[in-house]
Amino acid sequence: MKTITSALAIALAATTVSAQIEARATSTGSSTLPAITQRGNAFWNGNTRFYIKGIDYQPGGSSKAEDPLADPSICNRDIPEFQKLGLNTIRVYTVDNSKNHDECMSALAKAGIYLVLDVNTPNYSLNRADPGPSYNPTYLQSIFATIDAFAPYSNTLLFFSGNEVINAPNTTNTAPYVKAVTRDMKQYIGERGYRSIPVGYSAADVAENQYLMAQYMDCGSTQERSDFYAINNYQWCDPSSFQASGWNVVVQTYSNYSKPLFFSEYGCIKPGPRTFAETKGLFQTDMTGVFSGGLIYEYSEEGNGYGVVNINGNSVSPVGSQFSDLQQELASTTVPSGDGGYSANNAQQDCPSQGKNWDTKPFTGSDLPATPSGANKYFQNGAGKGPGLSGGGSQNAGGGSDATAASGAGQVTATYGSGSGGASSTSTTSSAASSLVVPQMNALPVLVGGMVVAVSFAFGMAVF
Ligand SMILES: *[C@@H]1O[C@H](CO)[C@@H](O)[C@H](O)[C@H]1NC(C)=O
Ligand SMILES: *[C@@H]1O[C@H](CO)[C@@H](O)[C@H](O)[C@H]1NC(C)=O
Ligand SMILES: *[C@@H]1O[C@H](CO)[C@@H](O)[C@H](O)[C@H]1NC(C)=O
Repeated sequence: MKTITSALAIALAATTVSAQIEARATSTGSSTLPAITQRGNAFWNGNTRFYIKGIDYQPGGSSKAEDPLADPSICNRDIPEFQKLGLNTIRVYTVDNSKNHDECMSALAKAGIYLVLDVNTPNYSLNRADPGPSYNPTYLQSIFATIDAFAPYSNTLLFFSGNEVINAPNTTNTAPYVKAVTRDMKQYIGERGYRSIPVGYSAADVAENQYLMAQYMDCGSTQERSDFYAINNYQWCDPSSFQASGWNVVVQTYSNYSKPLFFSEYGCIKPGPRTFAETKGLFQTDMTGVFSGGLIYEYSEEGNGYGVVNINGNSVSPVGSQFSDLQQELASTTVPSGDGGYSANNAQQDCPSQGKNWDTKPFTGSDLPATPSGANKYFQNGAGKGPGLSGGGSQNAGGGSDATAASGAGQVTATYGSGSGGASSTSTTSSAASSLVVPQMNALPVLVGGMVVAVSFAFGMAVF
């Protein structure tokens, strides 16, 4: 608490004169939003609790791998709708790491919207059926290039190292690879000199192992533990309640977890009509001590009944009353005052034992696969240009590693980069920086925003 108080004093003293300069100096990319940090089991905007009020955004659907943030005509069509809904976060499942994202990330920042990002793509991902060979340098190069492409933006909230890789009771053998990838991403972020962008996993709603995976992602050495855990949860089907939905049990189950938790997908559509009443439920104090909000599945209607808008070329129209119902729920939802009952010091979990629902052999306990040796050069040199969505794919690229990592693996031992990315993102960063040059007319709002930025960065550094 002492640190916080003195940081506040320093920050306040600094704001009047140099707020704008500080905001620019500490900003790492195109955005004017303060970076979100993580402390205890919660996210923070400075010293204010940050809750995810989000929506999952994959126009075109999951089968059509498309990057909505590489095309300003797509993101600029949808950002005004996000604003009407009152959202502060979107999740994007697939991006093209060979493309520039300055314009969309900047437009999102101006709208007050953060990004939670999946780093995997259909062709650059772990192979559930045979994970060992797919954990290889070609794969890691792609996800590291995605980090390079998005780390410079201060409104990049967090990265998902994997999404629903474990999708059945019998696929927990993939868990050590998911965790190894998480470790490698954290090491890459550290050694490239980026800010500590949280890395974690988005877990499918598989009753047999969703909580075991949470324990697993929090066990072992510091550098192997993920920074948060996200669950997909469709238990609350309107009309329902905290008790009737079983969310009370979910909260109980996760109540001693030490890291931030949120719903990476929610929004049951059965039996219908969906009224989004659980959106209000998500921000009640019986939830907020343990969970930090969530993302509605999903923005666009893709034939599965979950969308709140229909997209037709450049135009967007509501799906029935889904859009306005969600809008009303979000507008009438307030977050708890103060810290929302968060826990500062929950203990670390133990690794699950092998059993009927948890089989990670040959890697048991906290053992993980070693980083494939062919990938070590990326920590030092940067990942270089990303392969994008049309590259040759990684799953059969060779060079995989099944060796067990030595203890201490993943530790950030040197900082090779300066946080400005590899070759491919140098241009991203410089053009991002130039977009920060605002005309005089806009100086006042930026200055006001800048004070907030300066204060929260001081907190971020002091308490992180
Ligand atoms: C998991 O079980 C399903 C049937 O329930 C089966 O089709 C699949 O091959 C199994 N996967 C693995 C990796 O054992
Ligand atoms: C948290 O509670 C679960 C039971 O719900 C238990 O298995 C686990 O060991 C507890 N973890 C800690 C760190 O106390
Ligand atoms: C890349 O993914 C597409 C589908 O997303 C698939 O049709 C194609 O075969 C993949 N290419 C490689 C090399 O894996």
